[in-house]
Amino acid sequence: MALEITPVTPVVGAQVSGVDLARLTDAEFAAIRDAWHRSAFVLVRDQKLSDDDLLAFSRRFGELDPPPNQERGRISPPGYPDIYVVSNVLDDKGEPIGALGAGEAAWHTDMSYLDEPPDASMLYALELPASGGDTWFCGMQAAYAALPEELKAKIRGRRIKHDGTYNSGGYLRQGVDPTDDPHKAPGAWHPAVCVHPVTGVPALYLGRRRNSYIEGYTPAESEALLDALWAHAIQARFTHAHRWRIGDLVLWDNRSTMHRRDPFDATARRVMHRTQIKGSARPVAYAA
Ligand code: OGA
Ligand code: MN
Repeated sequence: MALEITPVTPVVGAQVSGVDLARLTDAEFAAIRDAWHRSAFVLVRDQKLSDDDLLAFSRRFGELDPPPNQERGRISPPGYPDIYVVSNVLDDKGEPIGALGAGEAAWHTDMSYLDEPPDASMLYALELPASGGDTWFCGMQAAYAALPEELKAKIRGRRIKHDGTYNSGGYLRQGVDPTDDPHKAPGAWHPAVCVHPVTGVPALYLGRRRNSYIEGYTPAESEALLDALWAHAIQARFTHAHRWRIGDLVLWDNRSTMHRRDPFDATARRVMHRTQIKGSARPVAYAA
């Protein structure tokens, strides 16, 4: 087995093959980390990972972040507080074993409502529906590079408010007051264009659409500008839909991607285990 890296699309994603993530040499790990920085997401297929293996691989990237607060709080497998379960499956009391249900998850980057969002998240596929539930990735460095100059000028030096009220499934986070006012909503302010701390490449940093606001504009101006930025960013040429197979692990860089999920049959089972790597710093503004 020799490690091989192939691009997933010309703008985003790398597939790494010829590795067993439970038995990784330091050189193989360095190659995966490098591909993650340069390609924004990394796909590794045909893995057989226990929760301990998933944690050990995740911890090679640094300290882990606790799971996000979702519609029912933080849901982890018993004894694994650093793992977060994404699933529509119900337990024997009829309670979901994970977050996000079976509906669509709208475009977002993880936990950008925090001052220091996680550098990375990874999902490992344990059970999958026969169809649906694809996870899409958007390359935000390519989206920024191709942004019309007029839009670049409108966001230069500005910050965006990132909302912590609703998750990507449209659910209210546990214990949070509902609001549609970006100024009252919990969340964090981040530069609209951030520079990758390792590669220096700038990326558009939008977070999520709902309750977003660009500083220095009236609410109506901000809405119109956000609509234009979002319409640009999620064009097919910057995105890729990942069709999952059991044993797939996908690791993404929250600083240079957004992701979303297609809905799937609610009576089918989908079980994913996720970890998130703590942010190494606040997102850094791009000085254009
Ligand atoms: C996530 C997420 C989408 C999916 O775990 O952060 O957005 O495909 N998941 O389950
Ligand atoms: Mn997510």
